[in-house]
Amino acid sequence: MIVGASYAGIQLAASAREFGFDGHIVLLGDEPDAPYHRPPLSKGFLTGSYAEDRLPLRSQAFLEEEKIQWMPCTRAIYIDRERKEVELHDGTRITYDHLALTTGARVRKLDCPGAAHEAVHYLRDLRDARRLAETARTARRAVVIGGGYIGLEAAASLRQQGLEVTVVETELRLLARVASPWLSEFMLRAHTDRGVAFEFGRKVVALHSTVDVCSVELEDGTRLMCDLVVVGIGVVPNTELAADSGLKLAGGIAVDSFARTSDPSIFAAGDCVSFVPYWAPAGMPACRIESVQNANDMAKIAAASIVGRSEPYRALPWFWSDQYDLKLQMAGVNTGFTEFVLRGAVEDRKFSLFYFRGVKLIAVDSINRPQDHMLARKLLANGAQPTPQQLADPDFDLKALANQPVPVAQGVA
Ligand code: APR
Repeated sequence: MIVGASYAGIQLAASAREFGFDGHIVLLGDEPDAPYHRPPLSKGFLTGSYAEDRLPLRSQAFLEEEKIQWMPCTRAIYIDRERKEVELHDGTRITYDHLALTTGARVRKLDCPGAAHEAVHYLRDLRDARRLAETARTARRAVVIGGGYIGLEAAASLRQQGLEVTVVETELRLLARVASPWLSEFMLRAHTDRGVAFEFGRKVVALHSTVDVCSVELEDGTRLMCDLVVVGIGVVPNTELAADSGLKLAGGIAVDSFARTSDPSIFAAGDCVSFVPYWAPAGMPACRIESVQNANDMAKIAAASIVGRSEPYRALPWFWSDQYDLKLQMAGVNTGFTEFVLRGAVEDRKFSLFYFRGVKLIAVDSINRPQDHMLARKLLANGAQPTPQQLADPDFDLKALANQPVPVAQGVA
């Protein structure tokens, strides 16, 4: 039984079948739509270049062929671990041999007077995106609260549709959770060049609205007038179901490297999960990784554990974001980097940043250099160690290094 029907849920079901699981698979989720691609929702789906019929992750025929019983609009409310039963919102109970929690994360809500006004939009699921796309068609001015992935992608999409956009960010730079200060600056320039305005280090204290105009009040009394507000201030993992049944949490549902929770019959994967990744520097506590990559790859590990062919989770994390004509791709996590090297041409907006912690290459951000990104994923996964001097040399053959067989002792450890 799989609770949560998004990336991790559907992947877990598909992988379980691929690995030979021939029992009954129930995949339930509280959304009405079958599992779908979320990243386009803040990008092409908003600008109109990505049609809704391209969103499903798998076809209905796939679900039928693989005998995956998908239950939409269904909420699990309690896990009776002793009886191995899950109680649904309507009181029904379903028994399980193996349970997987792929409950994901929900948006963090803005908490200030006026925050419930209908001009306020969030962007997490398809229903949010449909409503925002509809409103944006006739709106002229937008305020985006949060300068992270969602806020910036929404800002770019709305700006491309001709709206005036102001982004309000509490931190002093963009993408502060994930990007280096250098990259934050570059992304800021990309947006200001296209006419987006920014308010940094600012808190929203209230939203005011009349019939058709809304204003966002900042703590210094500034009021930003707009027709719509998009809030992208992070997500909160859906851990309540796990917590209520006494599973161990650590900022997310705690799992080991085999996607096993503290109950041997219960597995978990995706945004809702916290774990100590294989690449963690010594002493790093368990963390959550919010990404499509993590949901898919960890779901495969959970499926493998369920069928008894346990493999540890050792996938390299990677992320991406599209804003205007910029394709940002990130491989690895740059936490604690001590230096970085630039390769490529910033003026052409085609370059990569290679981050080192001491002598170890730990992460690579690429802008419009997809080949670098693919090579970076190989280099990082293999534990290859180019030097900063090599990377700074435009003639250095990155591809040859990425394709070199890695001595066992140098592998990811
Ligand atoms: N006002 C303004 N900004 C805020 C506030 C606030 N009250 N609270 C938080 N922020 C800022 C943070 O400083 C951060 O820059 O909002 C930004 C949130 O960025 P992310 O943590 O990247 O979250 P978000 O953009 O909402 O994306 C959530 O969705 O794209 C997926 O998986 C991806 O992790 C990502 C998730």
